[in-house]
Amino acid sequence: MSFTIAIDGPAAAGKGTISRAVAEHFGFAHLDTGLLYRATGRRTLGGTDPVEAARTLAAADLEADDLRSPEVAQAASRVAALPDVRQALLDFQRAFAARGGGAVLDGRDIGTVICPEAEVKLFVTASDEVRARRRHKELVEKGHDITYDEVMADLRARDARDSARATAPLKPAEDATQLDTSEMTIATAIETAIGIVQARL
Ligand code: C5P
Repeated sequence: MSFTIAIDGPAAAGKGTISRAVAEHFGFAHLDTGLLYRATGRRTLGGTDPVEAARTLAAADLEADDLRSPEVAQAASRVAALPDVRQALLDFQRAFAARGGGAVLDGRDIGTVICPEAEVKLFVTASDEVRARRRHKELVEKGHDITYDEVMADLRARDARDSARATAPLKPAEDATQLDTSEMTIATAIETAIGIVQARL
């Protein structure tokens, strides 16, 4: 039997951390769908056509060192606006969700397009300032030479592009539970998410 948890929201709201912790708590598999778009975007920086890059994505592409860089994030959000790129990545995501034993998928359109029948849907948000502060800290810790203002500009540009695109825009599913993590510690956000899932199991 499959049990799917869809976790969507804007960049750096805490989706990744919450998704990993929820998956670990319940013993479910986890797919960070942003990685698929990042790996596709990264290949286009090397000159590959976006649709071709998405269609021929290989496991090794998902392990590249610089997938978390702001340049790759921007490239990801550009290719993510192309319907044929999204179509090329759809089957893999649905098959992942349908595997037995439970799955957590995080992204932008999991609850609306990829898994509209998901048993649990969360839409994770945080204020722009909180998101930029968290992502800036994360990037600096990884050795990136980037200012808070540059991080804020990257997040806002991506959110604007992700929300405005015609295909699978960033928006909460009608039946999603909203989780604003602005005033929460990571531990509280994780606990709250686990509680919401537990209530639906
Ligand atoms: O989640 P992450 O920040 O790694 O995603 C990178 C980019 O990939 C996003 O800005 C968005 O444009 C795109 N994306 C998407 N749909 C998803 C996941 C990510 O469009 N399900």
